[in-house]
Amino acid sequence: MKKFPEQFWWGSATSGPQAEGRFNKPHANVFDHWYDIEPEKFYNQVGPNTASNFYNSYKEDIQLMKEAGLNSLRISIQWTRLIDDFETASLNEDGVQFYHNVIDTLLEAGIEPFVGLHHFDLPVELYHQYGGWESKKVVDLFVKFTQQCFALYGDKVRYWFVFNEPMVVVDGQYLYQFHYPNIRNGKKAVQVAYNIVLATAKTIEAFRSGGWDRDGQQIGTILNLTPSYPASDRAEDLKASRIADLWKNQLFLDPAVLGEFPSELVELLTADGVLWESTEEEKILIKQNTIDLLGVNFYHPSRAKEPSIIPSSASDWMPNQYFDDYEMPRRRMNVDKGWEIYPQALYDISLNIRDNYGNIPWFVSENGMGVSQEERFMNAEGQIDDFYRIDFIKEHLEWLHKGIEAGSDCRGYHLWTAIDNWSWTNAYRNRYGLVSNDIRTQVKTLKKSGYWFKQVSENNGFSD
Ligand code: NOJ
Repeated sequence: MKKFPEQFWWGSATSGPQAEGRFNKPHANVFDHWYDIEPEKFYNQVGPNTASNFYNSYKEDIQLMKEAGLNSLRISIQWTRLIDDFETASLNEDGVQFYHNVIDTLLEAGIEPFVGLHHFDLPVELYHQYGGWESKKVVDLFVKFTQQCFALYGDKVRYWFVFNEPMVVVDGQYLYQFHYPNIRNGKKAVQVAYNIVLATAKTIEAFRSGGWDRDGQQIGTILNLTPSYPASDRAEDLKASRIADLWKNQLFLDPAVLGEFPSELVELLTADGVLWESTEEEKILIKQNTIDLLGVNFYHPSRAKEPSIIPSSASDWMPNQYFDDYEMPRRRMNVDKGWEIYPQALYDISLNIRDNYGNIPWFVSENGMGVSQEERFMNAEGQIDDFYRIDFIKEHLEWLHKGIEAGSDCRGYHLWTAIDNWSWTNAYRNRYGLVSNDIRTQVKTLKKSGYWFKQVSENNGFSD
C-alpha cells in the first residue's frame, strides 16, 4: 500500500470560466469576447456560454464531487462576475451571492475550498482600455478586486491562489497566439510576465496587510512547471535546456518563492534589450511578498535542443530563439492532446522544490489526461470505463510518492478535473473528468475513475 501523508488533499481543480457559464455575468472576459467575435476559432463552435453549467447546478455538481471522494476543490472567482465597476471595484450582488453559495456548499459537503483569483480571465474592457497585463494600472485594479474577495470570503477560505499558469497568459496572448488578443511581441511578453509577478506580490501584500492571514489562512500561486531535459550532453543542448528552464519555469517560480528573478535570465534579457521596466520599490515589494504555498500544475516536461532560429533584433525577440523542442524515439505521447506523458518529472519537481526552493509546502494543483470521444469506452451499464485515466493517475502518484518519501513537502494531489468541463478553444474536444458530462443534456455521471478516486481518497493511498 502506498500511503500518503496525513490530511493529504485529494481533490480537483476547475475554474470559473470553464465551469460556470456566462449566466448573469455583468462583463465579458477575453475568452467570452473572443468567442463573440470569432466563434469559428472554437472546437465545434462551442463557447463558454454554458460551460458545465456550474452556475445553475453547483449543488448537484458538488454532490457528485463528494461521491468521487474529493476533500478539496479549487474554484476561481471571475473578476468579470464579482465586480460591476473595475475602477472602483464595486460589487455585483448576484456574483457576491453566487460565490458565497458555492463556498458554503463546499464547506457543508466537507470539501475545502481553494480559491483562485485569475484563471486566464482578464476583463476584455481592461485590455481594450489599458492593454491588460501590459499596464501597471491593471495591476492595481486587480489588487482592488482581490481585496474585495478577501473581505467577502476571507473568513471562510483558507487557501488563496493569485494566478493560474501565468506562463500560459504570456505564451498564449503575447507569443504563440492561442489566447485573445493573439499578439506576437516578445518585448511586451516580457513586460507582461513582470507585471504578473508584480501583481502577485502586491496581492500578497494586500492579503497580509489586511490581516487575512490572521487564522492561518495561506496565499500562494499556481504555476505550470515543465522541467526541461536536454536532447544530449553537448554544450549547445545543455545551454538550450538551461534557458528553457529559466524562461518557462524559473521566471515565475523564483520570484514567487525566493523573491527575486534568476540573475542569469535578467542578464540575458538585458543583453537582448528586452528587459522589463521596473523600479527599486517594486523590487523590494517582490522580495518581501513571497508565497506560503505553491501549486504545481504538471502535464508534460520540456525537451530542449539547440535552436534553429537565428536571434535577430529586440523588435522580434522570442524566447524560443534559444531552444527548440526535440523528437525522441519512444517518447510516450498522449495522442489526443499531443502532450508527452512522463510521470517521473513529478519526482524531479519534488526534489527541485526540496533542494532549491527551501522545501516550501506545495501540492499538485493540476494533473490529468484529456481524451476525446470517451463514449468509445462506455460499458454495458452506461459507465465510462476510463482505465487509461486510472493508470495515468496511478503512475503519477507513484512518482510523487517517491518524492514525498525523499522528503519533499507535498500536501496534496488535485486532478484536472472533477467534472468534464469546457477547455478554451478546445471546448469539449478532450474530456478530463472523473464525472462525464453530456453537454446536450448536462446529465453528469461518475466514470470508473470517479469510483476509483474515492477509494484512493478514503484509503489515503492505493495498493501497488
Ligand atoms: C491547465 C489550465 O489551468 C486549465 O484551465 C486547462 O483546462 C487544463 N490545463 C487542461 O489543459
